[in-house]
Amino acid sequence: MEFSNIPNHVAIIMDGNGRWATEQGKPRIYGHKHGVDSVRSIVEAAREIKVPHLTLYAFSTENWERPKEEVSVLMNLLVRSLRGEFRKMMQNDIQLNAIGNLGNLPKAVREELEYVTQKTKNNTGMVLTLALSYGSREELVQTFRCLAEKVKRNTISLENLDESVINEHLYTRNLPDVDLLIRTSGEKRISNFLLWQIAYAELYFTDKLWPDFGKEDLHQAILNYQQRERRFGKTSQQLQS
Ligand code: IPE
Ligand code: IPE
Ligand code: MG
Repeated sequence: MEFSNIPNHVAIIMDGNGRWATEQGKPRIYGHKHGVDSVRSIVEAAREIKVPHLTLYAFSTENWERPKEEVSVLMNLLVRSLRGEFRKMMQNDIQLNAIGNLGNLPKAVREELEYVTQKTKNNTGMVLTLALSYGSREELVQTFRCLAEKVKRNTISLENLDESVINEHLYTRNLPDVDLLIRTSGEKRISNFLLWQIAYAELYFTDKLWPDFGKEDLHQAILNYQQRERRFGKTSQQLQS
């Protein structure tokens, strides 16, 4: 891995907790608990190699349809992890950010998020973004509504409405485009994650289930990313000259 070519923004679809638990004859919840350990080590690993932005898909708008008990366990795990990891985030200079329809989250989660994001807001080592109750289409609908309203009130003119204006109205307004998108568990789909923001991301799929995904696996994904040629529509020759 070259330390000179670390992706500016890595996003991860952390999938496979349930299957991991099932493989061991345990309830799905057991997988989620171990999934938290992976989150901890991947955040640490990303910080070590100086990834500037790390975004983790932790709970989708569609995940609300899961059994009530599972949703409630996930929310409790979230509160506990935020509480437990707060000190380490301060020590490691990590800024916490959250994207999604956060108003739908239970009050305890919202309060904990608010507390940690507020306390870590001046940290500059790495921006850790949690996508919670996040759905890309929902984000786009919110964005279009807000923009339509502004056009109607003449605070934005239709002529000035361009990609950068749209970017500024997304939940990800303070984040750069995704460079590397990783998905664990062997599924090869995006599941409504950052559709606009991954327009030119490099995609990396691994069969490893999320609780088994460790530091070495992150290094492997970044090494693979570094071996790719990002052409952005140009020819290879153009890039070389
Ligand atoms: C990812 O693991 C965690 C969340 C979506 C919250 P899953 O719970 O989706 O695990 P599988 O895909 O059922 O194995
Ligand atoms: C995607 O995983 C969402 C998160 C990792 C939070 P899912 O397990 O919900 O995705 P699908 O339903 O298999 O596409
Ligand atoms: Mg899944």
